[in-house]
Parts: sequence; C-alpha cells; structure tokens
Amino acid sequence: MTDFGKKTVYQVYPKSFYDSNGDGLGDIRGIVEKLDYLKNLGIDYLWITPVFVSPMNDNGYDVADYYRINAQFGTMEDMDELIRECNKREIGLMLDMVFNHTSTEHEWFHRALAGEKKYQDYYIFRDDPEDKLPTNWQSKFGGSAWEYVPSLKKWYLHLFDVTQADLNWENPEVREELKKVILFWKDKGVKGFRFDVVNLISKPELFENDMEGDGRRFYTDGPHVHEYLKELTRDTGIEDMITVGEMSSTSLENCIQYSGQDEKELSMCFSFHHLKVDYKDGNKWALMEPDRMALKKLFEAWQTGMQDGNGWNALFWCNHDQPRIVSRMGNENLYWKESAKMLAAAIHMMRGTPYVYQGEELGMTNAHYNDISRYRDVESLNYYKILLDQGRTKEQALTILAARSRDNSRTPMQWSAAQNAGFTEGTPWIAASENYKEINVETELKDPDSVYSFYKKLIALRKEKDIIAEGTIDFLEKENPDVLAYKRNYQGEELIILNNLTAENVTIPQQKEWKTYQKILGNYEEITKEDGKIILRPFENIVLDSRS
Ligand code: GLC
Repeated sequence: MTDFGKKTVYQVYPKSFYDSNGDGLGDIRGIVEKLDYLKNLGIDYLWITPVFVSPMNDNGYDVADYYRINAQFGTMEDMDELIRECNKREIGLMLDMVFNHTSTEHEWFHRALAGEKKYQDYYIFRDDPEDKLPTNWQSKFGGSAWEYVPSLKKWYLHLFDVTQADLNWENPEVREELKKVILFWKDKGVKGFRFDVVNLISKPELFENDMEGDGRRFYTDGPHVHEYLKELTRDTGIEDMITVGEMSSTSLENCIQYSGQDEKELSMCFSFHHLKVDYKDGNKWALMEPDRMALKKLFEAWQTGMQDGNGWNALFWCNHDQPRIVSRMGNENLYWKESAKMLAAAIHMMRGTPYVYQGEELGMTNAHYNDISRYRDVESLNYYKILLDQGRTKEQALTILAARSRDNSRTPMQWSAAQNAGFTEGTPWIAASENYKEINVETELKDPDSVYSFYKKLIALRKEKDIIAEGTIDFLEKENPDVLAYKRNYQGEELIILNNLTAENVTIPQQKEWKTYQKILGNYEEITKEDGKIILRPFENIVLDSRS
C-alpha cells in the first residue's frame, strides 16, 4: 500500500467552516471558496465530515442516504465542483464513511420497521420481551444501547444515538451495499476515505451482559473486523488510496494489523488513548489535569509499537469530537502562542501522517460557553441531563461541559475580526468563540510569527526532510514527566525534538553531540543554556538537526 509519510491531511467540519449563502450554516460552496487558503497552508488531503442526506441528529453521522447531498450543505453539483477544484489544486478529497450505523431515517431502516425481513437483517434486532433489555450494554451517548419497537416487538441495537441503528455486517448483503457506496464516490474522483468508528462493525455471535463494563469489550475490534476490512478494501480496489479508520478504545496489536503494509486493510489509524489522559478513572465527564507521564508513555508505546509492528499512525490532537488542544494541554491565557506551537511540533515531528483540524492551525481555543442554551451537540445535551440526575449542580455540569463538550471544536472557523468571525453574514447555528478578534486567519496570515505560519513551516518541513517521514523514532528523557523528547534517525542524520509540556522552566542535560547540531525549528528565538544544560522555557519546542 502507498506510503503517506510526507502528506498532511486537513479536516473540515463543513457546518462550521464557511457559510457561502448567509443561512448561518457552513456549506460545500463555502469550502470551495476557501480552497486557496488550504493550498497555501500546504496540505495534501482534505477530509470533510459527512455531508450526506441526514436528519442531523448527530450532525451528519446519522446518514439517511449515502448517495445524496444534504440540501443544507448544497447539491451534488457543488460536490462535483469541490472534487474538481480540489483535484486542480492537487488536494485529494477524502469523504467520511459512516458504516457502523445508519440513521433510523434511512430507507433500509424504514423498510425494516415496515416488516420487511430482508431489511430487518440489515440491522441488529433482538426478540427479547419489552420488559427485558437484550443486554446491559450502554450507548456511547448515554443510556441503554437498545431501543424497543412495539410494532415489531423487537429491540434494535444503537451504540450511539437512538436514531443511529447499528448495521449488521455479518450479513453479506450489507457488506455489498457498503462497497457500492465506496465505488460510487471513488468513481466521482474522491481520493480517500475516513471510516467512522470502523473497529465496532463486527459484533459478537452471542449477545451477553457485560459484568465488567458497558459492553464495549464484546464488539470493539470484534471477531471478524479484520476480515471485513480486507474484503471491503479488496473488492473496492482502494488499496492505494488514503484510508484512515477511526478506532474506538482499540489496542496497539489491532492497529498494527489494521494499518500494516501487507495487510491491505487501511493505510492508517486514529486511536484515542492519548486523549484520555485527563479523564478521571477513564470517565470523560470527570475532570482531571492531564497526566503528562501517562501521555508520554502512550506516545512512546504507540510510536515505537507501530514502528516495530510496521503499522502507521494518524497523528492528531484535534477533531470535531475533541476539545481544543491549546485549552486542554496548553495554557491559553499566559502562553497561548507558545503552547499552540509546541503542541503542534510535538506531534508533527513524529512518525505517521499528521491531521490538522480546522482552526487548530490558528490556535483556536475552547468555546467557553456558560449557558446550556449555547450548546448544540446531542452528546453534550444528553450528558448535561445525566450529570444533573447524578446530583451535580448546574454550575458543575456547565464546568464539565466547558471542558469536555464536542461543541468546543464546532464553533465557527475564525476567518477575520468581522462579525461572527467572518464565518457567516447570517446568524450562526452555533456561537463563535469570543476571541475571534485576536485569533483569526486574516491576522495570522500576515504574521510570520503566528501559529498559522508555524503550522505552515511544519507541513513544509515534512515534505523537505525525508527523515520526518522515514526516520526511526526513539524516546529521550523517559522518566521526566515535564518534557516530551525524542529523536529521529535516518541515513546518518539525526533530529532531536524537545518539548516542554509545562508552564515552568525545565532544565535538561545537553548531550555532547547536540552541541554541533543546528536548530531548525522552535517557538523561542535563542536556545537558553546554563552549565552545559538546556533550559526549556514555558512550552518551549526545539528541533535540532545534525545535518543542516
Ligand atoms: C465518531 C464521530 C462522531 C460521531 C460518532 C458516531 O466518533 O467522529 O462525531 O458522533 O462516530 O457516528
């Protein structure tokens, strides 16, 4: 399979990217209008989250028709134009395939509800009586994962919202239907795919209660998942296209297989363990300061583990489901710019393919909403209720949402200091973050020292230097929780990457040979040294090169 080490992917959440027609919602034409901005940043691929027909209960991750465009985003002509305009600029368009479930508004589900046996087999129905849940599994958005349909006297499985019914991949007809979807978009000139929660597609043969957890251990990286992915890739001929699987609660062993060169399943994986180091006891809704040691250990395990196993990581901090990284692991008040840049360099210099989520390249922050009426996301609204039911005060629940809500990443892209951050001339569907007057494209494009300019440098550097794509990685300062440090080696060249994860000065020993190395990147002017040691200032990043 093809190697994507020199490429950078940019993720757009269309609803919040750019509104071309003033209805307050971002749209496909809005993306077309901004392609030159993306080209200028230097990206190679553009992944857009789903724009298919959908009731939008989960903002498009509830697909009702894989072959048609949701009018809210535009038309099929707009989509064709987007593909054409991307191709003109040598940007490959990647679409988001939500194949674990469909919306309950999908024709297949309607026909299942109408009693058609064929379509009931497309989903996971169970015959247990109304007063007995088939299993105790929990939905990832809160509550039971089963919903009863009185007219059928059956339950159906939904690992996400009640309007997102899980597909039955054990049924070969379902797999054929999904292959057709891929072929349709491939024929249109799409260059790659992101597969939503794709490691959940293979459910166990037996559905049983989980006495240890919420059920995920039964269907995560399920029994036939590798087989199904191989089949999908083979039968649609997408081996050489860029494909990335979103892997929920996965393991290193499985990701080695999903992304292994010879396995022909996917080109790379998103895994999320490094984004749970601030979950108290693994609970997203319980706040904790990030555990930096845990973060370092996870990076080390995944970077070296994937290297040894010949797998390939997607490198990322941000997406449409994650709070903004600068608010989460940086310091947006005192060291906003330094920490945004350091966090970028920390992952862009690793082994894998980096993903930049819209606005991340500007250092966009969390939303800082303090009223529940501001939130839009189904998960946030569900959990707000759950938190209140659990006895939290409104204030406490809002503090938790402010840190954890997915809406933190869904605020309008900050284009300029104009009203609504230049995102829309109408009323935005979700309020812009208040800091758009300082943090925006217009300002940062002009500033060679901006977060944007730093991302641009990182993306260019990856293309220039083979070592970033090809080099081996080894971790340094392993016992020091404050510094994330590693080296890359390739054909006699060495890069040293040092990142201070804290808002304090941290001193580390300087190895002898580094004295001759040149600094090729950093977020402070000069390197500070004392008694042969390097003093890393708050959130400092330094990249040293043996060969420049
Ligand atoms: C993935 C998507 C998320 C969506 C969920 C269910 O995690 O990234 O936005 O809600 O799958 O489709």
